[in-house]
Amino acid sequence: MSASYEDEWRARFGDEVVVPRGPPEIPWLRQVLLRRTHRRYADRLVSESLLQLLLGAAFSASSKSDFQQATVIRVVDRARRERLAALVPDMPWIGNAPVFLVFCGDARRLERLGELRGREVGNGKLEGFFNATVDATLVLQTFILAAEAVGLGCCPISVIRNHPEAVAETLGLPNKVFPVTGLCVGYPAAAGHISMRLPPEVSLHIDRYDDSHLGDAIAAYDVRRDARYSIPREQQRRPEIFGYASLYGWSEDKVRQATQPEGEDFPAYLRAHGFRLD
Ligand SMILES: Cc1cc2nc3c(=O)[nH]c(=O)nc-3n(C[C@H](O)[C@H](O)[C@H](O)COP(=O)(O)O)c2cc1C
Repeated sequence: MSASYEDEWRARFGDEVVVPRGPPEIPWLRQVLLRRTHRRYADRLVSESLLQLLLGAAFSASSKSDFQQATVIRVVDRARRERLAALVPDMPWIGNAPVFLVFCGDARRLERLGELRGREVGNGKLEGFFNATVDATLVLQTFILAAEAVGLGCCPISVIRNHPEAVAETLGLPNKVFPVTGLCVGYPAAAGHISMRLPPEVSLHIDRYDDSHLGDAIAAYDVRRDARYSIPREQQRRPEIFGYASLYGWSEDKVRQATQPEGEDFPAYLRAHGFRLD
């Protein structure tokens, strides 16, 4: 049976987008189109068996060369969780979420396999770092989609990478194991909001890269997104430098955000912990 995903498509991309016609009815796809991050959680525990099931589903993600270079650390100990939460006081959901996981890239395990097999494996180059990052990210997103399918809400937490030494010390991370992102998990306390995405013609190119229409497409996207939700004037970033914009759209917000460097301690951390990245 063919279905229309019009409502979900417009919720995700806004009005004025071309809606695909005639694909089959798959309820899970509707759910993915409507997915959203949740940062506030109900006072309800996530059962142990469900969590194990979701983690099993997460580790079913594809893995580069079957190297399986993701490790998840579930933070159960309250003192450790509070240490992590204290690193980012403006994100209280890190300490409040019923479950907190840290998805790590693990370039160490392959080297340990080499030791166990009596062969030298060097996995500290850019390729090892990149593969481990991709594996951890795939496990992360698979966990999120699985969790959302059972009614849970999640929030990735990459800001922990702004404090890599403290995170590594708190979680006992050895060389060549690094945090990619934390993840808050719990039953949502509220419905939340869908974050409108760029229209497919911006992020999907056919046969060859082509961003020649980026300016117009972004201008229209900024207006569309602002019509659904206007960022309040007091949330405009760095007005002391950039002033106040009359239309403070997504692109202005993201550009202002990106003018402030993030994760500056991470390269030094990686180099000090076994990576050469060449
Ligand atoms: C790798 C990654 C890191 C993120 N880090 C944070 C974070 O540190 N804190 C936070 O509140 N949200 C974080 N997020 C959530 C994003 O802000 C969110 O996904 C984005 O605004 C889009 O919203 P949506 O997921 O509801 O569509 C992160 C998301 C990803 C994928």
